[in-house]
Amino acid sequence: MHLLPLLTLTSGLLSYTLASAPALRSLDTAPVLHFTLTRRGGKFAPTEFARDYVNLTYLAEELEKTEARFNLTKREVKGNKLVRKAKNNEVGGRDPSALMGEVAADGVWYAKVKIGDPPQEIEMDLNMLVSDFYVVTTTSRKGSRYDDFFSQSAQKSLDRPYPTCYQHTDLFTLPAINDPLPLSFPYCRPSKFSRNTLGPSGSSLGLAPSEHLSQTGSISLFKQLLEKEVIQHPIFSLMLINGQDGVLSVGGTAASTIEMVVSQTENALNQLDGTEKGDVGPVEKLAPLVKRSRHGKEVVTKREDWETGWVWTGVQGAEGWWQLLMRGVWVDGSKVLQNQAVVIDINSPFILAPPLAVKAFYASISGSRPLPPPFSNFYVFPCLNPPTLHFEFSGTPFPFMQGGRGAEWSGIPGGKFSLGRLEAGSGYCVGAVVETRMGIREERDEVVHDGKKGRSTPSRGGLGGNGMRDVWVIGEGFFRGVGGVFDFKEHRVGFRAY
Ligand SMILES: *[C@@H]1O[C@H](CO)[C@@H](O)[C@H](O)[C@H]1NC(C)=O
Ligand SMILES: *[C@@H]1O[C@H](CO)[C@@H](O)[C@H](O)[C@H]1NC(C)=O
Repeated sequence: MHLLPLLTLTSGLLSYTLASAPALRSLDTAPVLHFTLTRRGGKFAPTEFARDYVNLTYLAEELEKTEARFNLTKREVKGNKLVRKAKNNEVGGRDPSALMGEVAADGVWYAKVKIGDPPQEIEMDLNMLVSDFYVVTTTSRKGSRYDDFFSQSAQKSLDRPYPTCYQHTDLFTLPAINDPLPLSFPYCRPSKFSRNTLGPSGSSLGLAPSEHLSQTGSISLFKQLLEKEVIQHPIFSLMLINGQDGVLSVGGTAASTIEMVVSQTENALNQLDGTEKGDVGPVEKLAPLVKRSRHGKEVVTKREDWETGWVWTGVQGAEGWWQLLMRGVWVDGSKVLQNQAVVIDINSPFILAPPLAVKAFYASISGSRPLPPPFSNFYVFPCLNPPTLHFEFSGTPFPFMQGGRGAEWSGIPGGKFSLGRLEAGSGYCVGAVVETRMGIREERDEVVHDGKKGRSTPSRGGLGGNGMRDVWVIGEGFFRGVGGVFDFKEHRVGFRAY
């Protein structure tokens, strides 16, 4: 088997590289905090163990879960701007005291953070659709817990930024920072009588660009890190190494690190191919920050300005999410769609496309067709003929889940673009670009709702629904081989292939 040694090797390399973080810091122009990212529950697995065909029921459930996360906000006019705000009473299973962003859910990317003295390690879920950082501690044993009772350094306050939360200050132990740092955050304990107290404990790190999405109104972790001069740039970057490991960099990027890990992994893999598989030996021999030049001499990786080498695109649309204009979608070298609005969400296991776009997209892949209801959001294509895809931002096409490298990839037929065979022995594979009707459904719901109040209904282009009509969701798949930097100050996103 190829897969297991690869994963062990990659995670070995990752911790190895991150362990040398102090050395990396001294080469960076500004301080950066690198956190290891993990996908809860392992990589997205649309096929059952040891099978190469999908479980459509599972896919449909995952699609529903993904869409539901976009359903917690509404749009509002603030001043002369259109902004996103939390819907009232609609978040967290209709409990008015729950905050947006479920903690400890399966399939979500998280980093670990240590809070308190002695430090208690908890999981911090990334959430690009909300903007609060908060810690939830419930009475159940599920999830990861921070309990102020066991921390000598906890400073409580009577300030309540949200019904079930107190504004707390405690020491955070951060990567590559010697002294623990006091940071303030909403510490939420659902009441003993609420259903939410049976849910898991954990924390949520909101990464959305707009403070209008904050429900607690407390100062974000990013702002505190900037104020305390722990970081200098109000940016973060996401780079995935594989389906379950990645790096979140706060205040900078991990571009050079990741490129090194990727190239070293490839080198090590090439060596592995020739030798005993499962031997993880080469890891020890790799030296950090040293690359081999074309002439075989060792060169120290050059210090890089964090802005160069990235293709930047400005954030647009209602203020709230990382929404961009995708200039083109390319299939086998032809542009088949242009000027599509997209929202970036690393936790989406699919690429979601609105109905008209998904039709045009699959129309350009010969032999593809939608599945019959109830699975008509999914399309299949011939496994032996996977398309070569590019998503274009600001004039630069980025390879997207390229499937051109033969019919097999990690045991899944149909290449990287494939979620798996339609059924056992089928020549058709399910595509990772999936139709979403959430924007349209939402507008329809809104129409009914407003009708009851006897108000005239805002139609297309109005404030109806969540504003996701004609908008794509670019999920985890795009980040296989493409890194992203998210800039809070300049309201822009940078991409780069590695
Ligand atoms: C398919 O997925 C569903 C939902 O996750 C699960 O209940 C079911 O057992 C799975 N089917 C098979 C054949 O494994
Ligand atoms: C989205 O929220 C509305 C209420 O605001 C609800 O009627 C609808 O069922 C929700 N849709 C999903 C997919 O959760």
